[in-house]
Amino acid sequence: MQAKLSSLVVLITGASAGIGAATAHELARAGCRLALVARRKDRLEGLALELKTRHNTDAFIHVADVEDSEQVRAMVESVARHFGRLDVLINNAGLLRMAPLLAMPLDDMEHLMDTNFWAVVHSIRAAAPLMARQGGGHIINVASGVSRRGLPYMAVYAATKWAVTGLTESLRIELAAENIHFTTVYPGVIDTDMPRNLDRSRLPADYPDHGSSRLPVTRVAQAIVRAVREKPVEVYVPWWLRCMSWLCAVCPGLVDRSIRRHYKIGP
Ligand SMILES: NC(=O)c1ccc[n+]([C@@H]2O[C@H](COP(=O)([O-])OP(=O)(O)OC[C@H]3O[C@@H](n4cnc5c(N)ncnc54)[C@H](OP(=O)(O)O)[C@@H]3O)[C@@H](O)[C@H]2O)c1
Repeated sequence: MQAKLSSLVVLITGASAGIGAATAHELARAGCRLALVARRKDRLEGLALELKTRHNTDAFIHVADVEDSEQVRAMVESVARHFGRLDVLINNAGLLRMAPLLAMPLDDMEHLMDTNFWAVVHSIRAAAPLMARQGGGHIINVASGVSRRGLPYMAVYAATKWAVTGLTESLRIELAAENIHFTTVYPGVIDTDMPRNLDRSRLPADYPDHGSSRLPVTRVAQAIVRAVREKPVEVYVPWWLRCMSWLCAVCPGLVDRSIRRHYKIGP
């Protein structure tokens, strides 16, 4: 069943930039009531001002580090206090670090897992009981194209995103009785600060930049708005990533060869 967007209460983590901020604009345009979460208060305040000016929306902002389960619990409580309910949780906050596995400091790996995976667990554990009490809800987890096919120098990032996919698939069934729907979003390479500001110091000099093939961030934001309305199980942006994921499942060796050629690795 399609959800009516106007007046839905939507919490977006990682709203201070990129996909989160663009999604906030699209949801505000559709009439949703928004709770915006990130660590950079000045960015959240700037976004709230833009939403007021452009869409006449009063967004609620909450500063939190989603790696910290206590802060995440407080985040959900403050949204519930402010709006009286929470209809949609968008777990979007994320971090990218790229390096050969053997050159990546352990701290970086743990940080990736804390932000990209454990934060999602914390927020679902905080929000699901509230959603269950109010009769249901919708949780959208932003994974990645590399949730379906790992790529060189992204081993740990890909692992964190595969973990999000496994988590979401399991909970889709586990929490169905509570009327909590789950959607996994799989973006390809999107033009945000994440790829733009990537630290390439540990990458080979000829590692491709993919600058010209990055998709505009509004493509993902609009896909997420459709997901809020239609509650699909999965969303791929661009759509053909879904075909890639089938190909990777059916012919992994063939895909390996083509990726090795693209990255000029091995024979
Ligand atoms: N861009 C891509 O090509 C791409 C592709 C596939 C998947 N994705 C995924 O899409 C999501 C959004 O990425 P993006 O490209 O929009 O990245 P971005 O522009 O770098 O924005 C990341 C957002 O996450 C927030 N964040 C990071 N760590 C946080 C923490 N510990 N606590 C609270 N907020 C935190 C940041 O806010 P503060 O710094 O203010 O806290 C920021 O708002 C991520 O999950 C990413 O993995 C992106």
